[in-house]
Amino acid sequence: MNETFRAFRIHEPHRAGIETLTLGDINDGEVTVRVAYSSVNYKDALAGTGTGKILRRFPLVGGIDLAGHVVASRDPRFREGDPILVTGSGLSEHRDGGYSELMRVEAAWVVPLPPNLSLREAMGIGTAGFTAALSLWRMLAAGQKPDMGPIVVTGATGGVGVLAIDIFTRAGFEVHAITGKPDQIEFLTSLGAQQCISRDGLYFGQRPMESATWAGAVDNVGGEMLSGLTRMIKPWGSIASCGLAGGTSLHTTVMPFIIRGISLIGINSSGTPYPIRSDLWQRLANEWRPRHLDRIITEEVTLDDLPTVFQRLVGGGGRGRTVVKVS
Ligand SMILES: NC(=O)c1ccc[n+]([C@@H]2O[C@H](COP(=O)([O-])OP(=O)(O)OC[C@H]3O[C@@H](n4cnc5c(N)ncnc54)[C@H](OP(=O)(O)O)[C@@H]3O)[C@@H](O)[C@H]2O)c1
Repeated sequence: MNETFRAFRIHEPHRAGIETLTLGDINDGEVTVRVAYSSVNYKDALAGTGTGKILRRFPLVGGIDLAGHVVASRDPRFREGDPILVTGSGLSEHRDGGYSELMRVEAAWVVPLPPNLSLREAMGIGTAGFTAALSLWRMLAAGQKPDMGPIVVTGATGGVGVLAIDIFTRAGFEVHAITGKPDQIEFLTSLGAQQCISRDGLYFGQRPMESATWAGAVDNVGGEMLSGLTRMIKPWGSIASCGLAGGTSLHTTVMPFIIRGISLIGINSSGTPYPIRSDLWQRLANEWRPRHLDRIITEEVTLDDLPTVFQRLVGGGGRGRTVVKVS
């Protein structure tokens, strides 16, 4: 194939933008995909603006998610025309990613599109929804149950946040939301949040353990937020540590762990082993399918719009999910 195609590529020293490429310019992979949609995650914004050290080699095409149709495959499990998706799995980290009209991916990470999802819906969910589902899966495995009490979601208006609110509510949990955007409370409530708490002025106290308020948490913020949450979780509850939008530090003591028996669960969506990855996508298309995807997908953009969206996310101004219509 001598076809040329458009891609959003990132270089070092930092320079990023649309380029016209051929297959010879991108990494090899058993499955060649015509990408229909991708999405914008916080990590994409860090990589695309050069704000965070995400890429392990340069240049690389950005975009940690992609969904599209197989054009050619050296792996017999995939045939021309099959709809597929890939999230995380090294895309835009050590391999070229989804912001490209054509891409070659490793068959080992390709998930057939579940029948109940469109390519656009799959990217509305993307790494953010997969991360929320992985958090739920790991918390359930740690013994979290709806009757233990409410789950609090931080960074609530962001991609992982909105999908966690929807998916945990769908799984029977009462969900509370902590947000820096009090003007979005109506939006968060419409997704299922039963209480919304403003991040501004939130004070968790400084004792090793404070009054236990929530039975569990999905934390997208890190830093002081995560430190505070460890003091506020009820006995036997768990915290899924997903993100670092507010910082990477963690100041706590062993007391909540040895007195209340809480669990701190590390979430790494990118490296999720294939059997779990495949299982989670089946759930996301069925019993955990977000009920409010139409509202959660707040915008659809093109490759040309990426720099503007990246600036907004890096500035903490994300709201819901942005899907990228690639070709
Ligand atoms: N572990 C994994 O596998 C994995 C996967 C996906 C994402 N993540 C991480 O999870 C986090 C959320 O990702 P995302 O894609 O949902 O990002 P996003 O859409 O940009 O959402 C991040 C949200 O965090 C809150 N926030 C932003 N800056 C903040 C600050 N300085 N202090 C406190 N809160 C702040 C904001 O929500 P409010 O205004 O509502 O508070 C913002 O909307 C990121 O750190 C990302 O790197 C991790």
